[in-house]
Amino acid sequence: MYAVAEEGLWATGAKRTNPEEVAGFIRAGQIAVARLDGRLVGCVRIHEVNDTTSEFGMLAADPVHRGLGVGRDLVRFAERRVQDAGHDTMRLELLVPREWSHPSKEFLADWYGRLGYTVTGVGAVEESYPSLAPLLATTCDFVIYEKDLRA
Ligand SMILES: CC(C)(COP(=O)(O)OP(=O)(O)OC[C@H]1O[C@@H](n2cnc3c(N)ncnc32)[C@H](O)[C@@H]1OP(=O)(O)O)[C@@H](O)C(=O)NCCC(=O)NCCS
Repeated sequence: MYAVAEEGLWATGAKRTNPEEVAGFIRAGQIAVARLDGRLVGCVRIHEVNDTTSEFGMLAADPVHRGLGVGRDLVRFAERRVQDAGHDTMRLELLVPREWSHPSKEFLADWYGRLGYTVTGVGAVEESYPSLAPLLATTCDFVIYEKDLRA
C-alpha cells in the first residue's frame, strides 16, 4: 500500500519491513485493523515511545476503500487507545524527500494538520535510522508530528 505513497523514495526491491517484524508487532499487541463487512480494509501500528507519548505508524487503508473514513477511524482508535493508557501525546513520523516535494506526502501533511497534528521537529534518516538510509533512493528527512490528546 506504500508502493504509490512512497514511490521514488526507496531503492528498487528495498523492503521497509518483513513478515517476521510484523508478526512481532502483532504478538506485542501493537497492530489494529479495520474491517468493513468482515473484510480487512486498513491497519495501523501503535506503540509506546515513553511514559507520556505513544506513536502510530504503518497506517494504511485499502486503495479501493480510500476516502471512506477508514484512515480517520484508525487514527481516532489509536488516539483513544493511547488516552485510555494514560498518555498525553500522540506522535507520528512522516518520511519526506529532502530536496523535492512528493504529492502523497503533501496530502498527508495537510490531512494530519486537519486531524489536529502539528510539526514539532525534523530529523535526518541517516542519523536516526542508519540501517534504513542505504535503502533509500533519495535523501529523506522524517518530520515529527504531535497532538496533545488532553486538548
Ligand atoms: C493515508 C491513508 C491511510 C488515508 O486513508 P483513508 O481511509 O483514505 O482516509 P480517510 O477516508 O479517513 O480520509 C482521507 C482524507 O482524504 C480525503 N479524500 C477525499 N476523497 C478521497 C479519495 N478518493 N481517496 C482518498 N482520500 C480522499 C478525505 O476527505 C479525507 O480528508 P478529511 O478527513 O479532511 O475529510 C491512505 O491514503 C493510505 O493508505 N495511504 C498510503 C499509505 C500512507 O501514506 N500512510 C501514511 C504514512 S505516514
